[in-house]
Amino acid sequence: MNLKNLIILITRKLPEKIEKNLKQNFNVILNKTDKKLSYKDLKKKINNVDILIPCVSDTIDASIIKSGKRLKLIANFGNGVDNLDLVTAKEQNVLVTNTPDVLTEDTADLVLTMILMISRKVIVAQKELIEGSWTGWGPSKTVGERIKGKKVGIIGMGRIGCAVAQRLRILGVEIFYHNRKRLKKNIERKYDAKFFKNLDIMISQSDIVSVHCPYTPDTFHLLSKKRLSLLKKNCIIINTSRGEIIDEQALANLLYKKKIGGAGLDVFEHEPQITTKLLESDNVILLPHISSATIESRISMGNRVIKNIKAFSSGKAPPDLVNKPYYD
Ligand code: 8YV
Repeated sequence: MNLKNLIILITRKLPEKIEKNLKQNFNVILNKTDKKLSYKDLKKKINNVDILIPCVSDTIDASIIKSGKRLKLIANFGNGVDNLDLVTAKEQNVLVTNTPDVLTEDTADLVLTMILMISRKVIVAQKELIEGSWTGWGPSKTVGERIKGKKVGIIGMGRIGCAVAQRLRILGVEIFYHNRKRLKKNIERKYDAKFFKNLDIMISQSDIVSVHCPYTPDTFHLLSKKRLSLLKKNCIIINTSRGEIIDEQALANLLYKKKIGGAGLDVFEHEPQITTKLLESDNVILLPHISSATIESRISMGNRVIKNIKAFSSGKAPPDLVNKPYYD
């Protein structure tokens, strides 16, 4: 196959090194401005394309996939594939790949950052100082909670969940986890992790709950209003997975009324919109989906995309093929 005959559409601006590599080998349509393509534009542009490189910000639904008359591969620049209609892709014989592994450590680092910052009320304390209401040290001022000895419930003990557990162990917390499948004994031992088949029981006993399962139809509002009501009074919720997994409105109400301790959220149900009550709540960290945003991870993600495309174009199975929605 003459690779220059393969047309690749990249929906967003990727690191220069990655775009350069792709341009050397393929016929590439770039997005120089990085402005998100409208649904209409994407539908039009995909018409003539063999390979699509989308990101989490693009919704690749059935109609878009079907508009790609020559489309053979969707090489997602990202780990989560909830932005893609995998069923239609399969029906249309379009292969789908993602970029696992390479954003695990950076995401886990951000989880840890948020857990520490929320537990120690860092944002609340800094606000007092910046706003000029700090009158000096006081024994009962902005008192947080010690991490050591806390019980952390991890929902989804896959790659990222395990990387979070590994970091937390050093801090002396107790690790609980809920997963579709129980981990092998040696892995449980490695993280000293206690399995909870019942999610309700786990979250009602956890001081901190961190979400690490992928978003699938099964995990939509997994943390529903009813489930959230089981949280301990001081519980902290962390979400770096997908906003849709938590009923955002219900969570915002609990935070606003101080019925739970705080939250660190890097993802939202209707990005880039955010429930107003979250913005008005204390002891929250709200971040614009940056958990994997390091230059190292972005380059590794790009290299992973290239590896998948090169394997595909030389007739081999791409290493990160996503056949069906996964949940590990
Ligand atoms: C990425 C993510 O930045 O990979 C994922 O699933 O959520 C993010 O950390 C994003 O997907 C890039 O498309």
